[in-house]
Parts: sequence; structure tokens; C-alpha cells
Amino acid sequence: MPEADESEKEKQFYVDVPAKSEPFFLKGCNSIDWGMKNRLSRIFDPRSGKTVMLAIDHGYFQGPTTGLERVDVTILPLLPYADTLMLTRGILRTIIPPTFDKGIVLRASGGPSILSELSNEQIAIDIDEAIRLNVAAMAVQVFIGGKMETQTIHNMTRLVDMGNRYGIPVLGVTAVGKEMSRDAKYMRLASRIIAELGVTYVKTYYVPEDFDTVVAACPVPIVIAGGKKLPELDALIMAYNAIQDGAAGVDMGRNIFQSESPVAMIKALRKIVHEGEKPKAAYDFFMTEKNEAKQG
Ligand code: R5P
Repeated sequence: MPEADESEKEKQFYVDVPAKSEPFFLKGCNSIDWGMKNRLSRIFDPRSGKTVMLAIDHGYFQGPTTGLERVDVTILPLLPYADTLMLTRGILRTIIPPTFDKGIVLRASGGPSILSELSNEQIAIDIDEAIRLNVAAMAVQVFIGGKMETQTIHNMTRLVDMGNRYGIPVLGVTAVGKEMSRDAKYMRLASRIIAELGVTYVKTYYVPEDFDTVVAACPVPIVIAGGKKLPELDALIMAYNAIQDGAAGVDMGRNIFQSESPVAMIKALRKIVHEGEKPKAAYDFFMTEKNEAKQG
């Protein structure tokens, strides 16, 4: 039994102070539950409202990708600078220390390898597993216009239902097949369908023209994938433009871990995403960090 409240101090109910009711900091996320908002706050930094996700899940269909041959050697040094890691349960369990206390975005779809039809994916985890691994979100690939479009959409809607049951957000990833045109019209179509069908946030590719309309037409936050390796300055310019156009962050892989200096690159990206640094200044910072790392 608790002890009786015998304090002599007069009770204070602050009746003249209205209760706080603040909107959640992420677009379109006001109506979701506390647990989901808490998980999203382990992906997006509530101070900037943005995220630098480090994507290292490529091995789920292409095996030991360049730069990811030894995740323990090449990726662990980057962890202090990532807001979130996007990866498979295999790499999470075998290599990532459980002391990593930022968000994990778990790759939740899979099936085909690079040797077969990539859109032929299915859900590749059980919700129990996502809960057991204490993940902040689950990621599913959706091939709008692809051969197995409907199957991948149903993977997503089933995952959204599972995630909603337990308060786990779902990241819908627009997978752009070789035959699709990478333009704003396609990205608007894909992102909007994915958001309409219930994901918490969307990952898509940046397109130089009218990306702001892709963001505007999507009712939930958008993060951009990096795509194939670019010169560092170009990747920083792309990240800057995406943020200026309203993206809520980046989910980058190859442009970080295939960089000539991955730690310097992810630090430079943080400057752009969280501090609104201009690309040239972020690139100068990258060069300084890179050279210092060489000397050290
Ligand atoms: C693709 O297979 C994965 O979803 C990657 O996480 C995604 O493509 C981001 O990686 P990158 O920046 O290398 O394109």
C-alpha cells in the first residue's frame, strides 16, 4: 500500500495553466499512436525534424555489395553519425552491437536475387521478429508499374496492418525498375499510392525537376535514396536540393559507404540535413575531415 499523502504543502493544480497540446513534428503523423511517434523520434531527430538514415540492406538481393563486404570493418565506424540504420535482421543480429540505441529500420521484404525478377518480393519477416528486435520501423519495397505491382502493394498493406497493430511504422520504398522513367510524374504517382495505402513514411529517388511537387503531393514525410555512387560534391548537392524541396531526410547507402572517406561523407551530409549547410561549405568540410583522417 502506498503511504497516505500527508504533505503539509498545499496542493497546486495550476488551474490557470492550459494543458499543452502540441502537434507532432512530422508531416501527416498527428493521428498515429504514442508508440509509433516514439519510434519515429528514434528515426527523425525532433530538433531538426530530419534524418540521416544509413542504408546498408543491399545484400538482401545483391549479396556482398561493394563497400559492404565486411560490415564489421567498414560500417561500424559510421554508427555514431547515423540517425538510423536500415538493414536486414541477419546483419543486425550478427554484427551490430545491441548497445546501438538509435532507430533500426528493418528490411521486411525480400525473395528474388539480382538473378531473377526483382519485383517478385514477399514479406520476409514475422511481426514477432520485428518486436523482438525492438525496431523503430519496417521497410518494404513497392514496385509501382512493375511486373509484380499488386503483390508488392499487398506486401505493403499487410505489413502496415501488422505494424499498426503493434505501433511499428512502415517505410514504403519506391523501387524504380529499369524500364520506368525517373521523373517527377512517376515519383508523384508511386509515392502517393504508397502513402494512400497506409505507410508512415516514404522513400523515393530525388529527381532534379519538380521534386517539390512530389513532396507536396505526398501526405507523409519523404526521404530520398542516394542511388548509385556520385562524386561527393554531387551527392551533397542532391541532398541539399532534396531538403530544400521539402524532403525530411536521406536514406543513403552507396554514396556514403563507397565514398573515399565514408566518415567524412556522413558527417558532411549531417551538416546539410540537420543544419541546412550549403553544398560547397559541406564539401569543404568533407575535404578537411578526409585529409585530417588521412594524417591521423
Ligand atoms: C535498395 O536496395 C535498398 O533499399 C537501399 O537501401 C536503397 O537503395 C538506398 O541505398 P542507396 O543510397 O545505395 O541507393
